[in-house]
Amino acid sequence: MKTHQFDALIVGAGGAGLMAALYASQEQRIKVAVVSKLYPTRSHTGAAQGGIGAALGSEEEDRWEWHAFDTVKGSDYLADQDAVEVMCREAVDVVLELEHMGLPFDRTPEGKIAQRRFGGHTRNHGEKPVRRACHAADRTGHMILQTLYQQCIKNQVHFFDEFQVLDLILSEGRVAGIVAVDIATGEVHVFHTKAVLFATGGWGKLWQITSNAHACTGDGTAIVFRRGVPLEDMEFFQFHPTGIRGMGILITEGVRGEGGVLINNEGERFMERYAPTIKDLASRDVISRAIYLEIRDGRGIDGKNYVYLDVRPETVNKHLAEAGETRRIDRAYIESKLPDILDFCRTYLGIDPVEEPMPIQPTAHYAMGGIPTNVDAEVVIDAQKTPLPGLYAAGECACVSVHGANRLGTNSLVDLVVFGRRGGRAMAEYARNAEFPPLPENPAAEALAELEQLRNADGGTRVAELREAMQDMMMTCVGVFRDAACIDSAIEKVRELRAIYDTDLHVDDQGKVFNQDLLDAWELGRMLDLAEATAVSALCREESRGAHSREDFPKRDDANWLKHTLVFRKPDGRLEIDFRPVVITNYQPKERVY
Ligand code: FUM
Repeated sequence: MKTHQFDALIVGAGGAGLMAALYASQEQRIKVAVVSKLYPTRSHTGAAQGGIGAALGSEEEDRWEWHAFDTVKGSDYLADQDAVEVMCREAVDVVLELEHMGLPFDRTPEGKIAQRRFGGHTRNHGEKPVRRACHAADRTGHMILQTLYQQCIKNQVHFFDEFQVLDLILSEGRVAGIVAVDIATGEVHVFHTKAVLFATGGWGKLWQITSNAHACTGDGTAIVFRRGVPLEDMEFFQFHPTGIRGMGILITEGVRGEGGVLINNEGERFMERYAPTIKDLASRDVISRAIYLEIRDGRGIDGKNYVYLDVRPETVNKHLAEAGETRRIDRAYIESKLPDILDFCRTYLGIDPVEEPMPIQPTAHYAMGGIPTNVDAEVVIDAQKTPLPGLYAAGECACVSVHGANRLGTNSLVDLVVFGRRGGRAMAEYARNAEFPPLPENPAAEALAELEQLRNADGGTRVAELREAMQDMMMTCVGVFRDAACIDSAIEKVRELRAIYDTDLHVDDQGKVFNQDLLDAWELGRMLDLAEATAVSALCREESRGAHSREDFPKRDDANWLKHTLVFRKPDGRLEIDFRPVVITNYQPKERVY
């Protein structure tokens, strides 16, 4: 077994991981490496399409304080407001920093960074939609990834590409390293280090219809959970309103930012009824619920489980005229602003969105909850926010908490660059001053034993069968709408699936080289952990807030539930819940009206 030594180690090479690596590597006295299960530029940040929010005011007046207000309101008042202030203030600076690194943002005619509208982003505390989403066509995340990767290469960050992390090593109460397997060879490696930052992304693959890539299986989150770190606000998982029907592939909110509208079977622009002020640009939880309600009331297209997203120039221009706007759009404009969306629709649906509306349905998109951290990306392990020395997390796998119960579009990219940067700085500072902790004897023993057990699993149930049963159950009972009876059955089901996983799994491939069958089995084990944590947290929260919509508790209940959940996994596997107060600075909770 190979052992490596680095002062600081980042797991995951999406936007948060690369930003952290870039900043950590600027500290000359430390050696930094990134371990990633994907080649870095294939990370899921690349799928973020429509923009990164920052109050630059390129196109109209804007202020970071308005961005902060919108983020808190969008979060249904569950976000920690001190952290939101940090994020929205630093967003401006970090977007300019990305521009200076060479990110090819779209431009206004005067050469400023172009900005478009996005759901929930408004001027002056909800007055009307504001242009805040800085974008590079509909490939913003892709461009962030390319830009940061080039900067990391320039800074000589050491990359271990296509290495799957398997375990976190703790020693004397602090971080001592990780265990990972080289996917190409099957060889297990130990990385001895002083500081680890997890930036392993989300876990949309828990659900059947998702915008997330196959790699989004929550590995880092599940690993730290098994090592005793609680997970925060797991009940809040966002459904993006517009995924391609039946496939879940993301159709960016930028389509609505450019004037696209949602239409039901009666040709009605139904968001006018649910959000009279900002209509199709309400926050995602509001729109996803509205789509479900339209479908439930028989107004899905042809009575089926989808509605239309219409960005045809004639439709958009009609609504622009009705809204008193002078701007008009045409095919050339849509092709320049939404090239990937047109391409996806032509490829996967055989339709041209300039000529026909797109069939869409809500799609599991983003984890608001995750590994609890403070604003320096230090992982905290209890309600008192005690840091675990040497452990950091940033990006979607982390919960700072800046998104609370519902994230605004564009704020994921802001989150990962702002807190990736802060995490990179903080871990470098820590690593510069700390000694290497001793490695425990056989640090890879548990990970190796689990891998070998899975490799030799010769029961009767295939990984795909169990994974589909989990995804189906999560979609039905822990999706957009929930209630106690259904969540209860989901918890029972996930425990049944876990028992089958432990006793009757079948893995076909016993090989070492690129054994995806084995990795799928390993990932499924992590996803089952996260499914149980999500369902248990969802059952516990007896109110409706943001993305957590309980039909048996339809109202938000600030008196009892203005608090974060922390779910702990005990050594015997039992889950326990604790709570932490929400940090409120400027904005007292109010009813949300859009
Ligand atoms: O709709 C989108 O382009 C997605 C962006 C986001 O999740 O922030």
